[in-house]
Amino acid sequence: MFDDAADIDLELALLKAEPLKALQSLQSKLPQLAPQLRRQRHLLCPLCCSGDDEVAAAAAKLLDQLAEPEATFCGGRRTFHYRGIEVEYWELDEDPGDLLFGYGAWPVAESLSKLLINSTLSEHDSQVVPSVHGKHVLEIGAGVALVGLTCCACGAKVRLTDGENRLVKALEEHHGHHNDLSFEVLDWNVDQGVEQFDIIVASDVLLCCCGAPEALPAVLSRRLKLDGKALLLNVLRGARAQLIAISLLQRHGFLVSIFAVASLDMLPLSTEQISKLPDAAHVLLVVTWAEEQMPLPASTT
Ligand SMILES: C[S@@+](CC[C@H](N)C(=O)[O-])C[C@H]1O[C@@H](n2cnc3c(N)ncnc32)[C@H](O)[C@@H]1O
Repeated sequence: MFDDAADIDLELALLKAEPLKALQSLQSKLPQLAPQLRRQRHLLCPLCCSGDDEVAAAAAKLLDQLAEPEATFCGGRRTFHYRGIEVEYWELDEDPGDLLFGYGAWPVAESLSKLLINSTLSEHDSQVVPSVHGKHVLEIGAGVALVGLTCCACGAKVRLTDGENRLVKALEEHHGHHNDLSFEVLDWNVDQGVEQFDIIVASDVLLCCCGAPEALPAVLSRRLKLDGKALLLNVLRGARAQLIAISLLQRHGFLVSIFAVASLDMLPLSTEQISKLPDAAHVLLVVTWAEEQMPLPASTT
């Protein structure tokens, strides 16, 4: 028998400094460590797009092996409560064929939901997070859509989207009766949609392994109104994904404000400071059009 917890911690700590060695060692300990490692798959995902081909291949192989059909997560109806707002959502049974573990709500989804509720309930629009009441909101990579459903509970009209058919179908089955909700399969790698929204929200989608940092800026540039705002809250798993996204967003003409979010407090950061944050920190990117992209005021002459 392995001392599982200790083994996992040691190997995972090594992933950054010596990724190939750590991956090979984890690999050699399957299948015993599989259940523990499955819960840490998010740490392996970024390595799939490592610049080192050997590391990327080893990470992909390990993830493949972890994706065995095993009932590790059982879905069902859940309720999220915060400040008098109640949101019902449905988690699904785990399916190894899913794109990126969207069957359950991720912890950042709760944080972003709370930030949005706070702004909507406060009398004044927060400078950072807008009130969603009466707004048209798009959620990208929604998974079980806790964030989008929270926006709806706060009085927004919401389009829930994900790249995974199964998830969008389940959202429609569970919430299709609601007049203020609509549903769409939106794969950010191929999306060409142009319908525009006041607010775009996404929680925990900026992961290197699914192309989001490269693809999302173009999606936002087509889908965000000129006076709109996008909120992308993510768990940090190395700074790379955030840095790629920020640089491409800026190239598309967006202003990106960056905040570390801890206990719902938002601390402004510079781009350089992201690399100094510990993994698992929550990073919020607030995206608006840069001023020069705004339409010129009507001529008064
Ligand atoms: C880590 S989960 C986060 C789910 C949800 N936002 C949350 O915070 O609970 C990432 C989500 O991105 C979706 N996804 C992965 N690749 C995608 C793509 N190419 N286009 C759209 N969504 C994608 C997955 O299906 C999954 O629901």
